[in-house]
Amino acid sequence: MREVLTKNAARNIFYGGSLFFILIFVGLSAHSHWYIQNVSTDHAGLTESVAKGKRLWEVKACINCHSILGEGAYFAPELGNVMRRWGVQDDSEVAFEVFKGWMEAQPPASRAVAKCRNSI
Ligand code: HEC
Repeated sequence: MREVLTKNAARNIFYGGSLFFILIFVGLSAHSHWYIQNVSTDHAGLTESVAKGKRLWEVKACINCHSILGEGAYFAPELGNVMRRWGVQDDSEVAFEVFKGWMEAQPPASRAVAKCRNSI
């Protein structure tokens, strides 16, 4: 067996290895895309109101301070369970009144609360 790795052999290993791992990367990316589209997305639950909520969440930058189902920043309370924590999950009209009252009770100088107010 040869003791020294020639330049040609090193180059071939480099290009071959790079190509091999690029192909693995592309394959895993394609599989992830397929999996998200076909397996892990709840298409039935993605209603128009869910899409509007997501848009509001992004446009008003709630994620900069809050998390939802653990995703986001940890500066402010988790919002995925706020309806349950406040005991209003069963009645959307009571929930609206409770949240409206909470927002109106916030100091007017608070930019975050002003954002909340303007978004509803
Ligand atoms: C600048 C940071 C910031 C942003 C942006 C922000 N919030 Fe908040 N939010 C807070 C903080 C801090 C609290 C906790 C206030 C308190 O406990 O008095 C809070 C509390 C809340 C609560 C009450 C949660 C609870 O369990 O008491 C709700 C609901 C809420 N925010 C909704 C929103 C929504 C919806 C948005 C986006 C439209 C948003 N917030 C954007 C900082 C922010």
